[in-house]
Amino acid sequence: MTAQQRISRRISSIAESATLKVDAKAKALRAQGRPVISYAAGEPDFVTPSNIVEAALEAVQDPRNYRYTPAAGLPELREAIAVKTLRDSGLQVSPSQVVVTNGGKQAVYQAFATLLDPGDEVLVPTPYWTTYPEAIALAGGRQVDVFAGADQDYLVTVDQLEAARTERTKVLLFVSPSNPTGSVYPAAQVEEIGHWADEHGLWVIADEIYQNLTYDGVRAVSIVDAVPSLADRTILVNGVAKTYAMTGWRVGWMTGPADAIAAAANLQSHLSSNVSNISQRAALEALTGPQEAEEQMRLAFDRRRRTIVAELNAIDGVRTPTPLGAFYVYPDVSGLLGRTWGGVTPRTSLELADLILEQAEVATVPGEAFGPSGYLRLSYALGDDELLEGVRRLQRLFA
Ligand SMILES: Cc1ncc(COP(=O)(O)O)c(C=O)c1O
Repeated sequence: MTAQQRISRRISSIAESATLKVDAKAKALRAQGRPVISYAAGEPDFVTPSNIVEAALEAVQDPRNYRYTPAAGLPELREAIAVKTLRDSGLQVSPSQVVVTNGGKQAVYQAFATLLDPGDEVLVPTPYWTTYPEAIALAGGRQVDVFAGADQDYLVTVDQLEAARTERTKVLLFVSPSNPTGSVYPAAQVEEIGHWADEHGLWVIADEIYQNLTYDGVRAVSIVDAVPSLADRTILVNGVAKTYAMTGWRVGWMTGPADAIAAAANLQSHLSSNVSNISQRAALEALTGPQEAEEQMRLAFDRRRRTIVAELNAIDGVRTPTPLGAFYVYPDVSGLLGRTWGGVTPRTSLELADLILEQAEVATVPGEAFGPSGYLRLSYALGDDELLEGVRRLQRLFA
């Protein structure tokens, strides 16, 4: 008998989540009584709006919700998602073209699993959210990074994409607003990229989970809205987690052409079946109920965004483009590397993040979690006072 691995190669090659690692370290320091301020979390600090919580309370009392429901989601919710998709992404879909998933994360996994055969290449604008590489690798795909730095607001161009395209390229991943950078593609650039993808017969997986969190009057234009002919080869990923402060409820979805969505629904029927009916009913209220609380959260994020960008840019060696969406800033900190701070000389952003945590008691996520070294991700989804205190600590450390 040949030697067998105790844990399969496929699963043991999955990288540990760097964001969770930072979070765990920050929590451990806090447990020791150290006053750590954390910019590491990827979730709103607000509670879920009360109308949504009430809808869930009602759902708990209703026996209709106690049994299995269709794996692809409750018909009412799929209908509401179709309405939202037309409103915000300009794409007409029927409810049968929607699969409700256990968070946007499951939609990301299922989208790659549905489209990729071994060796198929995916163009991944870099920096990227940490889950994409693992989802692509698990599906047997090959990730091809296309890097855009702070000098281009972390937005890739058609020329860069074209330089990375090969005969094996099957999918373009498109994320706007982006995690980790908060960048939003201007309408003209979305259109240009969409036309290019269409011309080359590529599929697009567009992660629109931060679609409703944009600032300065900017709208995140969906790639299928900009180039409607892409609709037959585009899967949209979305969810309620970020807009409605519902990360723990685990409701996301994917929409797209009928064949791809039917295949993904089939996969999900064996993997996890329906998302909790209680959470689905809460999500239905989120999408169809009053939207005032969401607007208040967005305004708070906007205020914090302006504070953190201004304060970070007051540090010599830090360059922070002003993000137009999501709730992250992504400063280029290469100007701080190779210099000595408190007796330590960080050479990478990983070392810098460690130094900041140790000496300023501030948690940030190093660029290595999202692509190349030289950057930090700070989430500004935390209270205004804490937010300001944290950047003041950085200003003192790097004075
Ligand atoms: C870009 C992006 N897509 C998808 C998700 C998935 O969110 P959830 O699974 O909580 O709905 C996240 C969460 O951090 C994200 O940042």
